[in-house]
Amino acid sequence: MADGNSETKSSNQMWGGRFASGPDAIMEEINASIDFDKKLFAQDIRGSIAHATMLAHQGIISTEDKDKIVHGLDTILSEIESGQFEFSRRLEDIHMNIEARLATLIGPAAGRLHTARSRNDQVALDFRLWVKEELQKCESMLTGLIAAFLDRAEEHADTVMPGFTHLQTAQPVTFGHHCMAYVEMFGRDRARVRHAIEHMDESPIGAAALAGTGFPIDRHMTAKALGFSGPTRNSIDTVSDRDFALEFLALASICAVHLSRLAEEIVIWSTPQFGFIRLSDAFSTGSSIMPQKKNPDAAELVRAKTGRINGSLIALLTVMKGLPLAYSKDMQEDKEQVFDSAESLELAIAAMTGMVRDMTIRTDRMKAAAGSGYSTATDLADWLVREAGLPFRDAHHVTGHAVALAEKNGCELAELSLEDLQALNPAITDKVFGVLTVEASVASRTSFGGTAPSEVRKQIAWWRTRN
Ligand code: ARG
Repeated sequence: MADGNSETKSSNQMWGGRFASGPDAIMEEINASIDFDKKLFAQDIRGSIAHATMLAHQGIISTEDKDKIVHGLDTILSEIESGQFEFSRRLEDIHMNIEARLATLIGPAAGRLHTARSRNDQVALDFRLWVKEELQKCESMLTGLIAAFLDRAEEHADTVMPGFTHLQTAQPVTFGHHCMAYVEMFGRDRARVRHAIEHMDESPIGAAALAGTGFPIDRHMTAKALGFSGPTRNSIDTVSDRDFALEFLALASICAVHLSRLAEEIVIWSTPQFGFIRLSDAFSTGSSIMPQKKNPDAAELVRAKTGRINGSLIALLTVMKGLPLAYSKDMQEDKEQVFDSAESLELAIAAMTGMVRDMTIRTDRMKAAAGSGYSTATDLADWLVREAGLPFRDAHHVTGHAVALAEKNGCELAELSLEDLQALNPAITDKVFGVLTVEASVASRTSFGGTAPSEVRKQIAWWRTRN
């Protein structure tokens, strides 16, 4: 634990006003990670207790020293938790801050803790434990978001709305079906979280600096004590691997992209022009100048957080790119990206869960929009295939004429007269009007995964068993 000799050099004239000394203050500033890696204190202490316990079990340190170490670490944990611990930049990072305090508390026995270990495997362990806990938190938050959508889907399995492609009215769907699309997306996100937990479930501690150690350590014992399925198999890879952080950022980015698409839909739906939903007061804000306004700020901020999270993924990929094996100090830059993304993602999921649960669905507006824009044109074409035996391409053509006629008359398809329709194709009967309503249209789409309320209810039931 080198101590900087800060009083020896004078500060740089160009930019050194705030520095007590020259280069070594800069060195301390660029080198120290304590300002952000103090977040890892609980993981660092857990890891050290497991390591010391194993060292004593293997006869590498004495039981008395181990007991002192464990007791000291427990004291430090409560000091940090109660805000009494003084972090020092001079001591660089969380690992050395804790070890230095341990030495003050218990004396020379503290020096035995770092036997058969390096900060390289130590930081890999602490960070992995942290990311694993974060993933577990994300898993349960996503389960909450999925549950919110399942409830809304159930409530609105029969609520018709326009379905869109190119953001142009395409075919009628149900709001329940649209909600279930998000259940699928967030369900995949949750599956990615679960895979990532599995991938990272190996303990780095005991890889030491990069080559392992000559001490007779038991890495299986520490792995088990720390809740991992076993130890990592290659000490070089262990200290140079940050895949677990990259996987977290990658899955967070995909999830954030999903959240941003939902955010965008909420922004669109809540405009007076669409008017499909009304956001609760709890998740919107007013304007300081325009009294009529209710702005979807939370949705907009979720949309923006996606930029931060995606940026973090690119940042860490770029840090890791081209690094030679094994550990390089570059890797210290992994933490802020992950911490920032974790905070942003948690906030975004929580805000979206609240918005989805609270928003009012304006079924009348959705229904009116569902019937406009010739949304049942495909139903007319399908009817011509089924009932009049036309090839689909011909049916498509006849329907195109019907749409053009309706457009010319300024009416909807269902408002065309039977005579007008028969002029386009004599096989058309008045039965056709039965399929031109939006309710008939959605009810007919019973293919697996289709929008018919009966199908949507089946998918809801399937997801309910999948938590
Ligand atoms: N603060 C460092 C980090 O976050 C800990 C590992 C330092 N190891 C070293 N050999 N300097 O990466």
